[in-house]
Amino acid sequence: MPTARTETSSRRKSSSRSGAKAASGPNALTLLREDHTEVSEMFEKFEKRKDKMTSTQKQTLVEEICAALTVHAQIEEEIFYPAVRPEIDDEDLMDEAVVEHQSLKELIAKIEDEGPEGEYYDAHVIVLGEYVKHHVKEEQGEMFKKVRATDIDLKELGGRLEQRKMELMGEAEEEE
Ligand SMILES: [Fe+2]
Ligand SMILES: [Fe+2]
Repeated sequence: MPTARTETSSRRKSSSRSGAKAASGPNALTLLREDHTEVSEMFEKFEKRKDKMTSTQKQTLVEEICAALTVHAQIEEEIFYPAVRPEIDDEDLMDEAVVEHQSLKELIAKIEDEGPEGEYYDAHVIVLGEYVKHHVKEEQGEMFKKVRATDIDLKELGGRLEQRKMELMGEAEEEE
């Protein structure tokens, strides 16, 4: 009988336990890219399984997606965007990213509000996935490329992103 293969995709990064200094975090771009990958995998899972899941399962997955996106958008807005904006000299690109976040958040609010029984729930989630895909393409394809050409200390920045991400994830868990 074939043995089930365990998934090895959930790579754990450096053992950043309590006491980790913000000064030596993961590379900021790596951290953000891993978030992007994680959320796009969740969207794929939704598309693939949406017709087979119970509405509770569906809601759990969608809540995970929305929570991950909310934390990710917040650390970018609070820490990453303000750090890179003055360095990359492309105000339009940065403004568009902020406006895209606003659209994402509006759609997330709608999805959380309507719940899986909503007439357009699945469509809203799929469209959210498309928005995210577009946004990620611009970040990774344009913004990150420009950031790499600056002398921003990406480890220091990554440390701050990681620390804030942990805080926000902790707060989200407490709210449940
Ligand atoms: Fe973003
Ligand atoms: Fe992002």
